[in-house]
Amino acid sequence: MSTLDRGTVENFGRWREFSAGMWAWVFHKFTGWVLVGYLFTHIAVLSTATSGAELYNSTLVGLESLLVVRFLEVGLLAVAVFHILNGVRLLFVDLGVGLTAQDKSFYASLALTGVIVIASIPTFLGGAV
Ligand code: HEM
Repeated sequence: MSTLDRGTVENFGRWREFSAGMWAWVFHKFTGWVLVGYLFTHIAVLSTATSGAELYNSTLVGLESLLVVRFLEVGLLAVAVFHILNGVRLLFVDLGVGLTAQDKSFYASLALTGVIVIASIPTFLGGAV
């Protein structure tokens, strides 16, 4: 039986059999939809500018004074960077480029995301209360 043949009924117990491609798929869906969710928050915050610069500034100063917001920003960066790197990887996969190394390119996306996120921590948490 070919490894692509899943039979007539999908066996959901297969999620326990680790495969890099499955986790890349799960993380890509998760990060894609988190980014869509963030878009609404982003527009809500930016929209305060329509009521004047003072409200906009005080909204941003208020948000940035919250430690939880600083941590959420680190999380958002992690989600965005992984989605972009894995997204570029997927585009190569769609083109049939580097198919035999697709596990390695997933691990590389994860590792590079980790490095970029760690490097961002001093900036995001700097000056946090
Ligand atoms: C440079 C930036 C980005 C790249 C390279 C990228 C790449 C991709 C690719 C290639 C897919 C299709 C994956 C597949 O073949 O199934 C995808 C799916 C998706 N992306 Fe992005 N993306 C980027 C930015 C964004 C942003 C900013 C958002 C949200 C505002 C977003 C939300 C999504 C969603 C919701 C999906 C569908 C997830 C699903 O399959 O359910 N992406 N992205």
